[in-house]
Amino acid sequence: MAARPWKLGTEKGLTFFDRPILAIESSCDETSAAIVVGRAVIANVVSSQIETHRKWGGVVPEVAARLHVESILSVVDEALAVGNISLAEVGAFAATDRPGLVGALAVGVAAAKSLAFSANKPYLGIHHLEGHICSVFGLADVIPYPNIALIASGGHTEIVHVRQFGEYEIIGQTIDDAAGEAFDKAARLLGLGYPGGPAIQAAASLNTKRYLLPRGLTGDVIDFSFSGLKTAVLRLTEREGAKLNVADAAASLQEAIVSVLVERTIRAAERVDARAIAVTGGVSANSALRTRFEGELPKVGIPCFIPPLSLCTDNAGMIGLAASVRFARGESHELTKDVQPSASL
Ligand code: KG4
Ligand code: ZN
Repeated sequence: MAARPWKLGTEKGLTFFDRPILAIESSCDETSAAIVVGRAVIANVVSSQIETHRKWGGVVPEVAARLHVESILSVVDEALAVGNISLAEVGAFAATDRPGLVGALAVGVAAAKSLAFSANKPYLGIHHLEGHICSVFGLADVIPYPNIALIASGGHTEIVHVRQFGEYEIIGQTIDDAAGEAFDKAARLLGLGYPGGPAIQAAASLNTKRYLLPRGLTGDVIDFSFSGLKTAVLRLTEREGAKLNVADAAASLQEAIVSVLVERTIRAAERVDARAIAVTGGVSANSALRTRFEGELPKVGIPCFIPPLSLCTDNAGMIGLAASVRFARGESHELTKDVQPSASL
């Protein structure tokens, strides 16, 4: 792609809601509440269930729902305290209502609806992936459109063509495991624990070349396949046994995942002539991925937005940012709108 001058600041930005929003996220294993004012996340409290799920090696849906019930009220209270605002000052309420674990979603949605009902203020249900895409809003006055958003998390690996706010087309995706899932499964095989992404990152040496791991699909593709990686890591552990250098294996695995995420996101941006790239989802917390994008993008000539770590893994701040644009447009949902465990973007 020929380098283009950045057009930041030359176009009109989005309009954000002018009163505080209380947003809730509970679609998986984090209970989170945030206060968002305009496009600023002024409080973003996350209570993680990871310690409980760790002993099972993954998220147990029933347990997740029960733990959300236990922590939702204290998380909301803490967000109000950190944001230094009272419940009466909140102008609107939002919650992730799709997609996710049904019992988990129901807890956050019930809390947001109850608060909206008692305060007689508007309520909005937000799509979890729209939340991830909007996690970059605090980084610049204007995020140029069209852009390409990479969403890489434990449950998703999607390349989204974002034509405008709210106009999304998934143009690339994994045909099997998600990128975060690949980190998690490989980490378990390497004895590095759960969640695997941070564990692999911490364990990885600088030697990415000792072990060669597959890149999944080949050719001019913007889809992904990560399931072969897990099998390759299993074979590697069987072959090397006690001789396995875990730090080098972690480095090779991280390189295998990071290289395809970066390559395919840039390819997608070139294909649709995007004016920016957004890198989002839990895997965007990975330091090797962040460094690689920052290094590659100047060659491509478009800006790359990567949210701060607190907005990468699941959090209510990103849900509040998406809601802020929608509330500013006058949107709201009836309190009868139910959760949707699966829903396209
Ligand atoms: O977005 P997220 O919190 O939840 C989902 O919606 O799935 O993403 C969680 C995923 C996990 O698979 C975790 O291993 C991965 O994000 N992750 C990372 C890092 N931090 C979290 N992967 C690689 N490097 C990290 N530093
Ligand atoms: Zn997520």
